[in-house]
Amino acid sequence: MNLPNLKEAKKRENSPVETFDARNIKSDKFEGKYFYLRTYGCQMNVHDSEEIKGILSNLGFRQTDDYEKAHLIVMNTCAIRENAHDKVFGFLGRVKHLKKDKPDLIVCVGGCMTQEENVAETLKNKYPFVDIVFGTHNINDLGKLILEHQNKQDIEVYSIEGNIYENIEYKRDSKYTAWVNIMYGCDKFCTYCIVPYTRGKQRSRKMEDILDEVKDLKKAGYLEVTLLGQNVNAYGKDLSDGRDFATLLEEVAKIGIPRIRFVTSHPWDFTEEMIDVISKYDNIMPYIHLPLQSGSSRILKLMGRRYTKEEYLELFNKIKEAIPGVSITTDIIVGFPNETDEDFDETLDVVNKCQFDGAFTFIYSPREGTPAALIKDNISMEVKEERLQKLNKIINDYSLMHNKEYEGKTVKVLVTGMSEKGENKVCGYTETMKLVNIDGALNDIGKIIDVEISSAKSFSLDGKKVTFVNN
Ligand code: SAH
Ligand code: SF4
Ligand code: F3S
Repeated sequence: MNLPNLKEAKKRENSPVETFDARNIKSDKFEGKYFYLRTYGCQMNVHDSEEIKGILSNLGFRQTDDYEKAHLIVMNTCAIRENAHDKVFGFLGRVKHLKKDKPDLIVCVGGCMTQEENVAETLKNKYPFVDIVFGTHNINDLGKLILEHQNKQDIEVYSIEGNIYENIEYKRDSKYTAWVNIMYGCDKFCTYCIVPYTRGKQRSRKMEDILDEVKDLKKAGYLEVTLLGQNVNAYGKDLSDGRDFATLLEEVAKIGIPRIRFVTSHPWDFTEEMIDVISKYDNIMPYIHLPLQSGSSRILKLMGRRYTKEEYLELFNKIKEAIPGVSITTDIIVGFPNETDEDFDETLDVVNKCQFDGAFTFIYSPREGTPAALIKDNISMEVKEERLQKLNKIINDYSLMHNKEYEGKTVKVLVTGMSEKGENKVCGYTETMKLVNIDGALNDIGKIIDVEISSAKSFSLDGKKVTFVNN
């Protein structure tokens, strides 16, 4: 057993520990039993949950949406902001009651939160009914941990990254769109961010392994792949084979899958070559998520983001010019320690200049163990909320403005499933990543169709399938 330790993680050694390769263990021990899985956090966790579902299916479990019916509960947690913790502990309170009536229920907690200092300790002392605590570096061990579990709490969390395992048996959520990890971890150490500690140092997968996975997905009929990583465009920097993200992107594009996306790009690693490749291939979607975080060069420096306001704007304009019709979204944090009204105005200035298609906006949340948490969090919650509201209003106006540009146009939509907006509606995404609710077209799930946009809202479009008549 090896308890997590942020300081140790910071020192990280180059030689990873060997974790036991228990990925694809098969057993019928839990045949007929149900698991309930709750996923918090980012796409990385969503994709990890597809691995967890694969592991549990291999043990005979079936999935249920009703946690009270489950024989096993897994929580795949997030640590990015304080409220992520609150949600997890809130749900654990409900699970505690359930376990009183169902003593055989197996409760597992994994994901980023368990990698934090003190969390395993808290689970041990305050939540002893949790059976298995695992981390982000040993998801592949979960099957083994469940099969071998006895009565006492097992804490198996490693602060040092394990091997990269290939041939993971994911149980993917969709038959049409797929996540493909191209790298794990992050080396950027933005001063506010917990991810480099919870996910470890950057480890890129070998290009051949990634390409093989994409080829298999194409064979299986997938129409879209999203290359996934915390900092995708730093891909390859740890491999020293000279191959970078632009090269990978081009090789993936050549495989010929109809739609390719990637998240998340860091402005600092965004190269001219990447822009060239994106504009050269029609199947690389004209959509880029380019986190800004702040528009003030002073705050950006405190955040350790490695670019200034001017450099961000220059890159933004270069991308807009080179890729016609590109849609760009961003992430912004308000209320970083010492952020003045003037700093916040700089952020608004960038937002007004860039007129983003959309943005995820956050109130700064100090994370223990990160450098920024040592700076006094000296902005009141009132000011933080005021700034957030003001920012959101502007962001939403620009989203609506961009969406309005689609009215009356016909665009290609990959229909991914039923819409929540009505019984006879399906939904899907444009190439530029706009959500569209479409009338009828129930047979079109899993197809790319032409849709005429009738009306636009801030967060979605409405449209109708276009049927071409051959004369
Ligand atoms: N790797 C990605 C995303 C990281 S997490 C990137 O670099 O962009 C997603 C977003 O959460 C970040 O972009 C940031 O805006 C926000 N975030 C991260 N740490 C935070 C913190 N301590 N408080 C508030 N927001 C935070
Ligand atoms: Fe966090 Fe920065 Fe890495 Fe993104 S790039 S995961 S914000 S440290
Ligand atoms: Fe959360 Fe971990 Fe993602 S902290 S945002 S789940 S990498």
